[in-house]
Amino acid sequence: MPDPSSIRSGEQATAFAAPPDRPAISVRRLLRTNAFRLAALYFALFATSALGLLVFIYFSVAGFIEVQTEATLDADLTGLAEQYEQRGIAGLVQIIGERSRGERNDETLYLITDPLSRKLAGNLSVWPKAETIRPGWIRFPVETKRGTLTETHPAIGNTFVLPGGFRLLVGRDLRDAAAFRSRITQTLTWAAIATLGLGIVGGFLMTRNMLRRVETVNRTSARIIHGDLGQRVPLNGSGDEFDQLAGNLNLMLDQIERLMAGMRQVTDNIAHDLRTPLARLRARLEVTLLEKPDAERYGEALTETIAEADQLLVTFNALLSIAEAEAGSRRDTMAVVDLGEIAASVAELYEPVADEKGLILAVSTGQGVKVRGDRHLLSQAIANLLDNAMKYTPQGSVTLSTSQQGETARLEVADSGPGIPAERREAVFDRFVRLEGSRSTPGNGLGLSLVRAVAKLHGGAVWAEGNDPGLRVVFTLPAAAA
Ligand SMILES: Nc1ncnc2c1ncn2[C@@H]1O[C@H](COP(=O)(O)OP(=O)(O)OP(=O)(O)O)[C@@H](O)[C@H]1O
Ligand SMILES: [Mg+2]
Repeated sequence: MPDPSSIRSGEQATAFAAPPDRPAISVRRLLRTNAFRLAALYFALFATSALGLLVFIYFSVAGFIEVQTEATLDADLTGLAEQYEQRGIAGLVQIIGERSRGERNDETLYLITDPLSRKLAGNLSVWPKAETIRPGWIRFPVETKRGTLTETHPAIGNTFVLPGGFRLLVGRDLRDAAAFRSRITQTLTWAAIATLGLGIVGGFLMTRNMLRRVETVNRTSARIIHGDLGQRVPLNGSGDEFDQLAGNLNLMLDQIERLMAGMRQVTDNIAHDLRTPLARLRARLEVTLLEKPDAERYGEALTETIAEADQLLVTFNALLSIAEAEAGSRRDTMAVVDLGEIAASVAELYEPVADEKGLILAVSTGQGVKVRGDRHLLSQAIANLLDNAMKYTPQGSVTLSTSQQGETARLEVADSGPGIPAERREAVFDRFVRLEGSRSTPGNGLGLSLVRAVAKLHGGAVWAEGNDPGLRVVFTLPAAAA
């Protein structure tokens, strides 16, 4: 059999556990994690909707400027059309001449030409080379002099052919609109960059923070797998899901550690307690074998050995029952049971023993003393108490009674035997303790140890008192709520 410690810290463990002290999380590992993928997905959704919103804002604003410009032009044209109707071409030329006088600082552009395309009036010098947007509407570049600099901007205009071959252009310089549009484009671009940047940095930090905490749990588990069962996952005190998870893991680890310690204690105890009788049994067989071969002697030795083996099995079973009660593994299967009823049915089994010994067995168990417990273990504990009372009482009586006092269920077994001196009344509950006077009666000194283990398992207590004459053992446990 391999050494148990080598299994705990062996190679199998390293195959699935991260080494205990892994340094910071690497970027490549980060990219492969679910947390990162989730963050990336959210970020993509967020970025798409944010960009969609920005594009929508851009087109709304740009469209609004265009509509505004065209509406202004329309109003202007309506005015000019009225003038033309009232005063004819000459009036129109005059008005345009007046409006175009001086420096062209206004955004409105005018040009009226004769049938030979010569300029009659306006602030444009020649008919522009234009691109038609839709019937009557054109887009064209316009030059403006600012000091020594000549700037070119886009403009749009509405054109008309008047009777007699005259042509009219009313337009608007889009310099301000273009500046506004480029300002918006710039702003939106920065907004987009900031959104993307914040999203990426935020997503990265969030993922890393989450991973760090998962990593802590991982590291702790790895240490535990490597054999250090005392490790616990650190909490950060925030009380969030990770903290709750860590807390529960720690509780689970506590429980496992308790069970493991219990198991170890049980195996240690059993091994220790059985070693001596087994060694004795072996020595007896060895001695017999060294003697002169003799069929009769061998027969005797075998019979003795069988008796000893039977005794060993009894001890072994008693130790197992104690271990079972102490480990608390039966706690999950406990149910509400009637203590009086259990006591009565155990007492029934002991009636023939009492008759045979000439003892009076008085049983007073009222029904209705309910406890939450394990029927099998409780029966065994009561049987052990009755067994002792019968075994150690040469004559007289044994009384078994159950009662309830407030929240406590109480079972008493009293006898009129020799009793136990007050200073030994605690010690008899230890394993293998037997008093001087009892050595002649069969027994292992394990009966009362089981009773105590059962009492503890049920959250109760057991102790021995004087009974003048004799002994009274009191077994209490919490009564179950009705
Ligand atoms: N009713 C009693 N009157 C007098 N002495 C008792 C009584 N009950 C127990 N004892 C003493 O306490 C010791 C321990 O009791 P316990 O029931 O644990 O072991 P046992 O009876 O000797 O062996 P086992 O119960 O394992 O067969 C006994 O050996 C006996 O000396
Ligand atoms: Mg006993």
